[in-house]
Amino acid sequence: MDVGIIGLGRMGMNMALRLLSGRHRVVAYNRSPEKVRSIARKGAAGAFSAEQLIALLKRPRVIWLMLPAGLPTDAMIDQLVPLLARGDILVDGGNTYYKDDIRRAEALGKAGIGYLDVGVSGGIWGLKNGYCLMIGGPQPIYRKILPLIKTLSPKNGYLYCGPTGSGHFSKMIHNGIEYGMMAAIGEGFALLDASPYSESLDYAAVARLWNHGSVVRSWLMEMAERAFTNDPRLAEISGHIDDSGEGRWTVQQAIETAVPAPVIAAALFQRFASRRDDDFSDRLTAALRKEFGGHAIKPSKKGQNRG
Ligand SMILES: NC(=O)c1ccc[n+]([C@@H]2O[C@H](COP(=O)([O-])OP(=O)(O)OC[C@H]3O[C@@H](n4cnc5c(N)ncnc54)[C@H](OP(=O)(O)O)[C@@H]3O)[C@@H](O)[C@H]2O)c1
Repeated sequence: MDVGIIGLGRMGMNMALRLLSGRHRVVAYNRSPEKVRSIARKGAAGAFSAEQLIALLKRPRVIWLMLPAGLPTDAMIDQLVPLLARGDILVDGGNTYYKDDIRRAEALGKAGIGYLDVGVSGGIWGLKNGYCLMIGGPQPIYRKILPLIKTLSPKNGYLYCGPTGSGHFSKMIHNGIEYGMMAAIGEGFALLDASPYSESLDYAAVARLWNHGSVVRSWLMEMAERAFTNDPRLAEISGHIDDSGEGRWTVQQAIETAVPAPVIAAALFQRFASRRDDDFSDRLTAALRKEFGGHAIKPSKKGQNRG
C-alpha cells in the first residue's frame, strides 16, 4: 500500500527500507534532505517538504511519523493538519507519552483524521529482524494499515492493544522493564568485576554461557556478549546513561496508580546518578558523616581544581 514516512533517523530510515522490501510504495520526507536523497536511491519517492509528501500520496493518505516525541512530533502534526483531508490517517511510531496521544486523537478526530499510536521496539536490528509493534487506536483504522504492520513486524510480532494511548502505554511499560533488566545485568557484571575472580573471568564468555540454557538468557544478554567482545573491560565507554522519557513516565504512572515499582524507579534514578560527577547530595552525606561521627572525608575534585 501507499505510505508516507516522516523522519528518516535510525528507526524511520530502516522502517522505510523494510516497507520498500515488502513492496509498499513509500514516500519519504526528512528535515535533512540528504537522507531523502539516500532513500530515493533505494526506491522511495523523495519529498523535500510536508506539502510535497502530501501531494505524492494517494488518498486516503497514511502517514507514519518517526520523530523525537513531544514538541518535534506535535510541530509536525500541526504542519500536516491543514494539508490533510477527512479519512487520512496519522500513525505516530515514536516514543510518545500516551496522554499526548489521547489529546491528539481527540483534536484530529474532530477534523476527521484518524490517529494510531504505535509503540515500536527492535532498535536498529528491526530492519533485519522486524519490529515488535504495539498498536492503539480505533480498530477500523488499525485494520486499514494492517498490511504495513505485517511487513514491519516479525511473525507474531504485533498486537492490537486497545483504544487510543494503549499502544504507547504498552511501549512505555516495556521500556520500564528494559530499564530494570539492563540495570540488573549491569549490577551483576559489576559484582563479577569487583570479585576475586575478575582476572580469570571472560565476561563475553559468561554472557554467552548464560544464553545457553540459563534462566537469564535473553537478547540483552546477547548484546552484553557483543559489548564485551568489542571491549572486554568496557574501557572505552563512559558510564553516563541518557534517558528519553519512558522510564520517567513509567515511574510517574506507578505513583499515579500507587503500584510499587521499586526496581524500575531505582534503575531510573541510577541513570540520573550516572550523569553526576562528585554529586552534591553525596558530598552533603559525607559532610554529615564527618559532623556526627568524625568520619574521614576526601577533598573535593572541584576544590582540587580550584586549588
Ligand atoms: N532508536 C531506538 O532504538 C528507538 C526504538 C523505538 C522507538 N524509538 C523512537 O523513534 C523515534 C525516532 O527515533 P530515532 O532513534 O530514529 O531518532 P534519530 O535517529 O535521532 O532520528 C530522529 C529523526 O527525526 C528528525 N528530527 C529531529 N528533530 C526534528 C524536528 N524538530 N523537526 C523535524 N524532524 C526532526 C531527524 O531529522 P534530521 O535527519 O534532520 O536530524 C531524524 O530524521 C523517537 O521517538 C524514538 O524515541 C527509537
